[in-house]
Amino acid sequence: MRLAVFSTTSRHLMYRTVSTLALLLIAGPSGAEPLTNPLSPEPAIVAEGKKLYNRTGCLACHGNNARGAVGPDLTDDEWMRAPSDEMVFNTIKNGRSGTAMSGFAGDLTDEQIWTIITWLRDENRKRKEAAK
Ligand code: HEC
Repeated sequence: MRLAVFSTTSRHLMYRTVSTLALLLIAGPSGAEPLTNPLSPEPAIVAEGKKLYNRTGCLACHGNNARGAVGPDLTDDEWMRAPSDEMVFNTIKNGRSGTAMSGFAGDLTDEQIWTIITWLRDENRKRKEAAK
């Protein structure tokens, strides 16, 4: 009888340990880290970002060179929300419900989204350079 109780308890403990491990695995070691752009602003990537921006139809709403039209300017320092990499990425990937900004998860891979962001950041950098 005692033995039976012991073995039930240890199995229960083992189950708990296994499910805790599984949860850790699902969350991943970087689960709490904010997303950041993995790409560096090399000229080829920046140029590709602009092409993707034009080709995917962002241009129709955010205007030529992303300087703003129906949708906001994406290259100045004025943002509706703090422009962390993660916010910009999620906005492009998932859109903003209740606005004309729809998600592009079906049209762009994550890497293509980062490529566009790399171009947008570079445009912002160039504008600041020009304003000096
Ligand atoms: C049909 C029009 C439309 C298209 C197409 C569109 N957007 Fe938008 N976008 C908007 C509008 C409108 C907003 C502002 C949403 C709001 O009110 O929060 C917005 C917001 C954004 C923001 C957040 C701006 C901020 O200040 O927080 C980003 C980034 C963005 N769009 C990127 C893109 C990219 C990149 C594409 C192409 C892949 C794209 N958008 C295509 C209309 C559009």
